[in-house]
Amino acid sequence: MSVEPSPDCPICTRLHDFIAAWRVKEPGWHNAPVPTFLPIGGINQVQLLVVGLAPGLRGANRTGRPFTGDYAGDLLYSTLNEYGFSRGTFAARPDDGLQLIDAAITNAVRCVPPENRPVGGEISNCRRFLTPTIEQFANLRAIVTLGTIAHQSTIRAFARPVAKFPFSHGGQSNIGNVRIFSSYHCSRYNTNTGRLTEPMFKGVFAEVRRYLDGIAG
Ligand code: URA
Repeated sequence: MSVEPSPDCPICTRLHDFIAAWRVKEPGWHNAPVPTFLPIGGINQVQLLVVGLAPGLRGANRTGRPFTGDYAGDLLYSTLNEYGFSRGTFAARPDDGLQLIDAAITNAVRCVPPENRPVGGEISNCRRFLTPTIEQFANLRAIVTLGTIAHQSTIRAFARPVAKFPFSHGGQSNIGNVRIFSSYHCSRYNTNTGRLTEPMFKGVFAEVRRYLDGIAG
């Protein structure tokens, strides 16, 4: 099974048509499914996978790289850098030269949804790409899920019941050799309302770092 949708993926009619309309309005934008951002060394280097929700219209859908140009990307990329998961300077452009280290970033839904809200059928449709994306990482040890939708779709990608793995900010659960770390999504809404503070978000990645470095059990 392919890990990426085709550039003109027709599976979700609503998302396909939404993108088609934006191709007319903004022909210079990416306007296609946004592929997983991988480290330069390839899939075997990936120990940590970050799973977001879906590309933002004027962010990842414009630039073609997850969380790039989206408000949420500023906190995500600065946090990854602080905990040693990237090198270079994030400048919210796909040609900024930023490289991931031992980490990859993907989205539960690869196409931009209207109003940032994918519907249930779109989330389950796109799991046919999330599941093999996860499976291809032979050295994967940790996943950070950003928000309930990404969390539940990841649990389902492992064919586990979501009721047994409920979402909570800062929650951790093991599935096979992989530890799932859950966080509130680093969206503008969550940070502006104070639901998610910078220390809360960084705390999750601090735990991931400790776990990968073998300090935490
Ligand atoms: N941009 C992404 O690529 N994913 C999100 O979840 C939010 C913004």
